Amino acid sequence: MVAPAIELNGKKLFLESYGCQMNFSDSEIVASILTGTGFETTRDFGQADVIFINTCSIRDNAEQRVRARLQDFKKLKKQNPGLIVGVLGCMAERLKAKFLEEEHLVDIVAGPDSYRDLPNLIERVESGQKALNVLLSREETYADISPVRLGSNGVTAFVSIMRGCDNMCAFCVVPFTRGRERSRDPESIVAETRELFNNGYREVTLLGQNVDSYLWWGGGQKKELEPETVHAALHHTLPADEQARYTTFADLLEKVAQIHPDLRVRFSTSNPRDMTDAVLHVMAKYENICKYIHLPVQSGSTRMLEKMNRGYTREQYIDRIESIRRILPGCGLSTDIISGFCSETEEDHQETLSLMEWAGYHFSYMFKYSERPGTAAAKQFADDISEEVKSRRLQEIVDLQQLLSAVRTKEGVGQTYRVLVEGPSKKSTEMLSGRNSQNTVVVFPKGDLKPGDYVNVKIDRCTAATLIGTVVSA
Ligand code: 5AD
Ligand code: SF4
Repeated sequence: MVAPAIELNGKKLFLESYGCQMNFSDSEIVASILTGTGFETTRDFGQADVIFINTCSIRDNAEQRVRARLQDFKKLKKQNPGLIVGVLGCMAERLKAKFLEEEHLVDIVAGPDSYRDLPNLIERVESGQKALNVLLSREETYADISPVRLGSNGVTAFVSIMRGCDNMCAFCVVPFTRGRERSRDPESIVAETRELFNNGYREVTLLGQNVDSYLWWGGGQKKELEPETVHAALHHTLPADEQARYTTFADLLEKVAQIHPDLRVRFSTSNPRDMTDAVLHVMAKYENICKYIHLPVQSGSTRMLEKMNRGYTREQYIDRIESIRRILPGCGLSTDIISGFCSETEEDHQETLSLMEWAGYHFSYMFKYSERPGTAAAKQFADDISEEVKSRRLQEIVDLQQLLSAVRTKEGVGQTYRVLVEGPSKKSTEMLSGRNSQNTVVVFPKGDLKPGDYVNVKIDRCTAATLIGTVVSA
């Protein structure tokens, strides 16, 4: 069947995204909704009739970056008073109407669950008003919307499997900006992924704030179930006939992996509190599920973890990594770390460093603690670690990670990896770039290869984070 052609309305949309992969994935939903009403997307904001910026609130500096970017659009709006500027995403949700008061050039403020309403909000602005929708939903997953792949390489894509977060980590603004956790219908996830494969894509990353708590039983809220039932379903300990009514993340991962052996499957983000061995066993069973886990630790100190309300101790985190090593030897591992959370002592900090060393992370995302208004930490604890101490501790964490990454990268020299070709390498047009299963970037001569091909690459040398090699036959 040929889809009916969309009648263009002659208007152009410029969309810019900040923050996590989920936000970039949301922008593809926004693009789909607006192209559905006749908009074309443009990469040049000077050409745009509507500018949307999809924002992040995770740390104060993320918000400052957005504020600075809005200044660039100010000049444009002076020249073209009809230009519509909208702020989407987490900052919109956090600041709500305040945004309209503080930034006069902003016409639309739309939170993460209101994107179906964007065409109406645009209409409202066209009739001379400002427009706001920051309602959070308990059901919205945009399951039926087929994302427009923005800036895609045609090989790798993100597929969102759930929205929101119920974890309530003390430092984190996400539960407030993205609302309650809800899982997307697995059938729609499999259908979207199959279509990607049929369109030539060869890798999907399944996205959720906490993929391990994914649970589908025909829709509805987790709170409608007894907590014991949720726990048992997530851990696959219900009697078989009852368990069959639920789809857990392990089940979903398996369904997606079965679409085609040439489709690589990745996922993010795992949560140490919820990650089950069932997920690890599915990963072991399917060659096409990449052997790489992003497992944020945040701190190596049990005292800090408790204060952060992370729901695990240092020992329990270590136990999760031991399971990974046992079930998936050689699995790539990365993490998130926060330095200088409320009341963090030098001993707490040393525990973070020693845990990093023990884990030997391939990669880390490392941050200074940034107090977010409205969070439990902001309400209950003083942000009492000086900027100077936060910075110094962060630098020690960054320096250690650099050593660990170098060791991990060097271990790859002499190995042969199966690599999915993604596109030209950043540094040379004669070289291509892709990643191995463990998520390390691999660069190799172009030959006759094209994006979407699989190749075996023998690694000859490396830089700090990149493996460089030659193509060998299968
Ligand atoms: N300050 C600093 N880092 C934070 N993160 C989340 N909230 C904060 C905050 N208030 C980090 C965590 C999380 C990652 C996405 O961002 O490490 O895992
Ligand atoms: Fe924030 Fe915790 Fe949810 Fe991650 S899991 S988004 S750190 S609340």
